[in-house]
Amino acid sequence: MTDHVTIFDTTLRDGEQAPGASMTVDEKVRIAQQLATLGVDVIEAGFPVSSPAQTEAVQRIVAEVEGPVTCALARTIEDDLLAAGEALEGGTDTRVHTFIATSDVHIEAKFDKLGDTMAEKRRAIIERAQTAIEHALTYTDNVEFSAEDAGRTDPGFLREVVQAAAEAGATTINIPDTTGYCAPSEYADLLSDVRESLPDPEAVILSTHCHDDLGLATANTLAGVKAGARQVECTINGIGERAGNAALEEIVMALVVRSDEFNVETSINPKHLTRASQMVSAASGFPVQPNKAIVGSNAFSHEAGIHQHGVLKERSTYEIMSAEDVGQDTEQIRLGRHSGRHGLFNRLETLGYEVPDGHRSEIYQRFLDLADRKKEIFDEDLERMMEEFGYGGDSPLGGERRMDGATADGEPLAYRLDHFSVHLETNAEPAVGIRLQRYDGTVREEEATGDGPVEALYRAIDHAVDQPHTLVDYSIRSISEGADAQGEVEVRIRYGENYFTGRARGTDVVRASAEAYVDALNRLAAAQSDAESVEFVRDSIMNAYNGE
Ligand code: KIV
Ligand code: ZN
Repeated sequence: MTDHVTIFDTTLRDGEQAPGASMTVDEKVRIAQQLATLGVDVIEAGFPVSSPAQTEAVQRIVAEVEGPVTCALARTIEDDLLAAGEALEGGTDTRVHTFIATSDVHIEAKFDKLGDTMAEKRRAIIERAQTAIEHALTYTDNVEFSAEDAGRTDPGFLREVVQAAAEAGATTINIPDTTGYCAPSEYADLLSDVRESLPDPEAVILSTHCHDDLGLATANTLAGVKAGARQVECTINGIGERAGNAALEEIVMALVVRSDEFNVETSINPKHLTRASQMVSAASGFPVQPNKAIVGSNAFSHEAGIHQHGVLKERSTYEIMSAEDVGQDTEQIRLGRHSGRHGLFNRLETLGYEVPDGHRSEIYQRFLDLADRKKEIFDEDLERMMEEFGYGGDSPLGGERRMDGATADGEPLAYRLDHFSVHLETNAEPAVGIRLQRYDGTVREEEATGDGPVEALYRAIDHAVDQPHTLVDYSIRSISEGADAQGEVEVRIRYGENYFTGRARGTDVVRASAEAYVDALNRLAAAQSDAESVEFVRDSIMNAYNGE
């Protein structure tokens, strides 16, 4: 019989730790729903002790997402375990994942209080791991233990820790290559060594968790599977700390396409991979590089004449899987001025929008207005149009912002750009004027000049919002085809240790630039009000990791 490999997705926990990737709770719930559709077995939904927003994400995913096991992370500290247990309360299929570092380098740096000698500290680590697992078992019988930095841990000590964790009742034991240091053969040997040392290897599931610092995360994960791991931890698009984690889509498709080599199966339906990738990219603000394996826009394009010729004659000459297999919709129906209501609403339904009869005429009219301005209407154009109309659906950017100036939760936005004007003239600096509504009910009108219209707009907005921050990155790319294509602007701003990404799309890229900037500022304002007296999400996560 073919073995099952559990797909443990940590996009919402480890993935979100990528600097600048922080997602709203709503975005996390929508992504979790897509992960359920995709067929992942376990969703690591957050690290509850680190912030109220992380707790809320875990609670909402437990309550709203059916199918996968919901998992919460906790150090081997009582408060962490309590927070994880509370966040998971009421769930029927839950897991607590507890971890402690085991490598000498981590022990020296983090565990002064655990003893005077390395031997004392190692003993204390084993005790803490066992006590934590026993505590976690009071919330659920599904407990995972991770030996953080296992990849650089003394193999003898790793065997002891793993045995102790299994004895205490952990049913999944994770061997993280936290720093992405291992080579595939080494990682496989480590896993086999641990597995062979267990008195009853069948009683626990060994798991991989590989970071991508040397670009080896997927290779190490697959080596782990060959060595007997039956759970893999991964993220959509490979997002995560530093260089990221092993990419779910790469692992899954390697297991599918090379089933002859790996001889295992997963519950994933690959047709939902591309959608998941787009949603995570939209929420995290991290674009997917065109040449990204499986989900990149070029992953199935053939440019060279010889390749095109070969593929047209026989696909398998240059393709080992097809775009359709992974949900890359190559035959997108293009809508335009002559499309009827039926075509439009069919397409909207496919994109996940449920449009009640009462809205149809207005939406169709908006579509016709757009079609007057743009010859061909792509999915991205429709998503933008629906977003402006105040719709969610499961579009990648679904429901983020509404035209009535509220977030999808109904929370009012802190800033709203009511109006702007731009004056451009040869041999003169661009000059802009703006009118912006603020959370305190005041309306600010500002004027500014700059080297270009976008710089001038950003200066005027800065004056109007009065909120300290640094602009870290601005990018613009074309997201639909043709000379009248829509541009997508992404803006990253930083406040302290926290990054916020704003996004906007439109055929008018100056307007989209202003909207993306205001979006980033609204995200900063929302994080400030969510965090109230605690630090922002990333600060508090980092403190939680460092402060054992
Ligand atoms: O990389 C790592 O070691 C982790 C642990 C918390 C599992 O993310
Ligand atoms: Zn990790």
